[in-house]
Formats: sequence, structure tokens, C-alpha cells
Amino acid sequence: MKILLTGRAGQLGWELQRTLSPLAEVTAFDRVGLDLADPGAIARVVRAVKPQLIVNAAAYTAVDRAETESESAHAVNAAAPEILVREAGRLGAALIHYSTDYVFDGNKAGAYDESDAANPAGVYGRSKLLGEQAISASGVPHLIFRTGWVYSARGRNFLLTMLRLAREQAELKVVADQFGAPTWARMIAEATAQVIARCGTDANGIVETIHGQRGIYHLTAAGRTSRHGFAEALLREAGLATPVHPIATSGYPLPAPRPMNSELSCLKLAARFGVALPDWESSMRLCLGEIGPGR
Ligand SMILES: NC(=O)c1ccc[n+]([C@@H]2O[C@H](COP(=O)([O-])OP(=O)(O)OC[C@H]3O[C@@H](n4cnc5c(N)ncnc54)[C@H](OP(=O)(O)O)[C@@H]3O)[C@@H](O)[C@H]2O)c1
Repeated sequence: MKILLTGRAGQLGWELQRTLSPLAEVTAFDRVGLDLADPGAIARVVRAVKPQLIVNAAAYTAVDRAETESESAHAVNAAAPEILVREAGRLGAALIHYSTDYVFDGNKAGAYDESDAANPAGVYGRSKLLGEQAISASGVPHLIFRTGWVYSARGRNFLLTMLRLAREQAELKVVADQFGAPTWARMIAEATAQVIARCGTDANGIVETIHGQRGIYHLTAAGRTSRHGFAEALLREAGLATPVHPIATSGYPLPAPRPMNSELSCLKLAARFGVALPDWESSMRLCLGEIGPGR
């Protein structure tokens, strides 16, 4: 089976390239090889590679910058997935795509499930929702995995930022009223590989199986914490004594609004595919182990 992977230089794309390679022939692209803001390039590259499965890990993820760069966010997060899924349909291929907790406004009291209405509060969330909608409406076999609070040992993320700031500053202030599940990109990649393996790695069989199971699935680590809880657990585990003071979201204003509740229920994924991620704290420890003592 041939997989075309986008976003290979990103947190998730890097992990996917590594994790999917034993399962299939993976042709992976970074922005230089395939610029998703260029519709002609998408069609050209997909038609040249002729994959049975497209895995789209690329995205415009600069949540705050998106507020003033909505055209770029829409090109990559809304228009590009629409073209990717159209090209997949043309080839008789399937698409795996990733989306975000930011499609929700964060006002729900409990965990969001896939049937909850989306209501994004910012440009990034709206652009990602448009991408989801284009894929869902296409009729092409697809799986959309919504995740949240993604970190990894490389790239730009909350975990690496906290480790750096804890060394640079005498104390940290971190918001304590936003809740979610910190999710290691490797775990998302491994869950994706398990789902693909369960769908079968036979080129035609997988497209049919994905078609039968098509839809949106929530995919985050188990458990729930606040940004502050995550930072405290992280520094404790990393052996850093820098105090972390809890503050309210209103004390740390940012251009884009954040959902206060990002908790996603992953029961549908477990029921359909038998796949569930470990709790956020054990994954965090594994990731710290990967980063090593120099952290
Ligand atoms: N990060 C999170 O906390 C989070 C939370 C929820 C959902 N998600 C979703 O999870 C998925 C993976 O995110 P991630 O954390 O791996 O993001 P990431 O580390 O920012 O990686 C995204 C990748 O997309 C690439 N990209 C951006 N614009 C592009 C373009 N025009 N053409 C081609 N590639 C382009 C970036 O390339 P450059 O390196 O050149 O910029 C980057 O390598 C995305 O769908 C994201 O929306 C992420």
C-alpha cells in the first residue's frame, strides 16, 4: 500500500513518518515539497504519487497569528483538505485528516463527544471546521481524528516552552482554568497506525473499510488536567524546582480565544477500533525520557 503523508516536518508528521513506514510505502512531504497553499501543487503531487491513502498531518497551527492571517489559515486548513479529498476521490483512495478541540467553544460542562455541535471561537478553529466539513461532505472514504494539546520532543509546544522557561525564570505563572488532555504526538501516530492496521494494509481493502467506518473520531490522551496542572507535573517529573503559580485566563490575554474546556471523549474510537491512548501523565513521562537528561 502507498501512503502520501503531508506535514512531515511537524510534530505529528514527524512521528507519523516513523510509525507508518513499517506498514506501507510512505512518500512524505514537507512544505518545500508540497505547499498546501498552492492548489495546483496538491493535484500535481497526489496524481504523481498515486497513493491508496493520504494522511494529512500538515496544518496552519499558529492559533494567534491566524487572527490576522485568516487567508493563509483558510488556504491550508480549509481549502487544501477539500482539494486533497477531491484528489483522493479521483484516485479511489482514502484520506486520514487531523482536526482540533478548537472547533468547540469550550463552554460544555463535561467531555465533548463527536455528536456535540461545533462552535469555534477563533479563526484557526473556524478554518479547521471548514476543512472537516469539506471532507465530511465529499463522500470519499475518510477518518478525521480530532485531537488537542499536542506536544512532542521537537517543534513548538507547551511542554518544551515550559521546560525552557523553568530554566530561564525564577517562577512561572500558568493558566489554571483551561482544561484538557495533553497528548503526545507519538501516541496519535501510534493510534493512527493501529487504526490503519485494523483496517487492513491491503490497498483496496483499506479504502472499503475506512469507507464503512468513515467519520469524525476524538483522539486524545486519557484523563484531564489544567495547563497549570500539566506544567506542575512536568516540572516535578523533570526535577525542576521552579514554582508554578496558577493564574486565570484573563491574566494572560492572547489574540485568539481558547476553549476553557477542551476535554474530548474518545469512547467512539475505542468502540469502533479498540484503540485508546494511555493517560496524559504516563505519556508525558515517556516523552521526557525521550528528550533525555539535557531537558
Ligand atoms: N499542536 C496542537 O496543539 C494541536 C492541537 C489540536 C489539533 N492539532 C492538529 O494536529 C495536526 C498536527 O499538528 P502539529 O501539532 O503536528 O502541528 P505543527 O507541528 O505545527 O506541524 C504542522 C506542519 O504543517 C506544515 N505546514 C504549514 N503550512 C503548510 C503549507 N502551506 N504547506 C505544507 N505544509 C504546511 C508546517 O510546516 P512548517 O514547518 O514549514 O511551518 C508544519 O510542519 C494538525 O491538523 C493540527 O491542526 C494540533
